[in-house]
Amino acid sequence: MLKTNIETALNNQIRIEAESSQIYLSMACWAEAQGLEGVAQFMFNQSDEERQHMLKLVKYVNERGSHAKITELKAPKTEFGTFKEMFEELYQHELFVSNSINELVHITLGEKDYATHNFLQWYVAEQIEEEAQAKTILDKINLIGEDRGGLYLFDRDIQQLAVTSSVALDAKP
Ligand code: FEO
Repeated sequence: MLKTNIETALNNQIRIEAESSQIYLSMACWAEAQGLEGVAQFMFNQSDEERQHMLKLVKYVNERGSHAKITELKAPKTEFGTFKEMFEELYQHELFVSNSINELVHITLGEKDYATHNFLQWYVAEQIEEEAQAKTILDKINLIGEDRGGLYLFDRDIQQLAVTSSVALDAKP
């Protein structure tokens, strides 16, 4: 059985991952409405990944004899300005998630809960990847600037990235 404060902190992370999934789903819909098919596909995949992150936590909490709580979620925005602003938001959001995971790791150490600490290492590694990916995409966007042809190629490239990450997701246990 998990200590109450660990259970509460993990349930808080469950909500954050679920809200992340909703935010990226909303970004996918916005991108699709703008005709950015590749970006939309990428965001649909990101949304699925966040749901997997949430489920992994849910299963862990329940396996430890505690109770994962599914709660109301904050509604995401539905408008994102430009696609560059949208990716900046994605990057900032991932920094926020990393921070929250770090806090969680800190709590487990304080409580000497080494099993949960060990479980969370997967999330620590995942956040490094997610931050790096968001940063790479932002760098590409900055290279394109206002160039329409560049945007077309970017949309095609990111679709490729979406396909690759969805294959990786399917391969995950
Ligand atoms: Fe589950 Fe993108 O953080």
